[in-house]
Amino acid sequence: MELRLNPVFDSIRAARAGEPLCAYVYDLPALRRHAARTVSALPAGAELFYAIKANSDLPILQTLAPLVAGFEVSSGGELAWVRGHFPDVPVIFSGPGKLDAELRAALELGVESLHLESAHEIDRLAALAERLGKTQQVLLRVNLALDGLAETRLMMGGKPTPFGIPSADLPACLARLRDYPRLKLGGFHFHLMSHQLDAEAHLRLMASYLRQVAQWCAQHRLEIGHVNVGGGIGVNYREPAAQFDWAGFCAGLCRLLDAEGLPGVRLRFEMGRYMTAACGYYAMEVIDVKTSYGKTFVVGRGGSHHFRTPYAQGHSHPFHVLPVDAWPHAWPRPEARRTEVSVVGQLCTPKDLLAYDAPVERVRAGDVLVFPLAGAYAWHISHHDFLRHPHPPQWYLPLEDGHAAD
Ligand SMILES: Cc1ncc(COP(=O)(O)O)c(C=O)c1O
Repeated sequence: MELRLNPVFDSIRAARAGEPLCAYVYDLPALRRHAARTVSALPAGAELFYAIKANSDLPILQTLAPLVAGFEVSSGGELAWVRGHFPDVPVIFSGPGKLDAELRAALELGVESLHLESAHEIDRLAALAERLGKTQQVLLRVNLALDGLAETRLMMGGKPTPFGIPSADLPACLARLRDYPRLKLGGFHFHLMSHQLDAEAHLRLMASYLRQVAQWCAQHRLEIGHVNVGGGIGVNYREPAAQFDWAGFCAGLCRLLDAEGLPGVRLRFEMGRYMTAACGYYAMEVIDVKTSYGKTFVVGRGGSHHFRTPYAQGHSHPFHVLPVDAWPHAWPRPEARRTEVSVVGQLCTPKDLLAYDAPVERVRAGDVLVFPLAGAYAWHISHHDFLRHPHPPQWYLPLEDGHAAD
């Protein structure tokens, strides 16, 4: 991949003459291949939405739109963005703390389903639907406490959290819905965790969801069409060679649906990180290499204000060194050889740390560091304006048919 990126870096340098390199690069052909493989492995009876919070750049959405069943949005801003560019793509709207204005926009712009998180949200949506004369399909997001739930590093449920309806409150919410003819219960929504790397554990979770929903349907005499099982498939930043076994998971899911699928009910995924992480690269030119009390620091152009993923997730992000042989200066070139380094950015805080204890063969000022797995929750979760450094250019390697180039 680095070889493929070299000409891209040359173009970026040419466009920004004299500036040390710093850029995001997204490989759209790779994104298309990955998304097509991911969707085609799903068994019949399952479908996949893309959770655009992971990366909502237009070329990313344009690449994914023809492949996925639709987009999941979590704010009025995301809804307006999607509807403005994709008037006909199916949209589902989740997320905590929805404003009346956002619920109204969803009713007016049209969403396939709205995921409701509390009794109060049910009441507010019902009042708005009545006022607008609209009927809306809703899914109830439930925070399930499951015995023996295998936790990941980021749990949104399975314990006290602000997300969803605790299962003990579900009967009251179902009773509430029966009073509101304009709200149609389409099914249930779960998103208990992100960063799932264990396919077997995730299959067990799917089985628990199906059994729980079957029990609710029998107990409350419900007819539903969907179980939304959320996103949460993780990306292994610590060991990039050991990724989630999606093919094995889908094969297991196929067996599970054959054995325990609910008649007439589709399983829906709304995945973010796993879809786009691998297509993105963050590149920074090395400004300086220095040693302080026995530790070596590589200072790059940019930092966590562009690429907060490593600090947010608490990992040392993998990177490659692209050697740049030209050194136009008369003074010696700072370098480190066969040692472990910390990679930092330009911010005035020790928290501006992208990698640590990272072995390198050789790294010099003027070389370029390339961080892979930077296509999800990367630029979009970063605090771009801290210190008012310039924003990096975002480059998109075009699809073979020329679509969505930079
Ligand atoms: C409700 C909901 N659905 C889907 C996602 C996407 O999760 P992931 O990117 O881990 O697949 C999130 C992420 O926070 C979420 O909160």
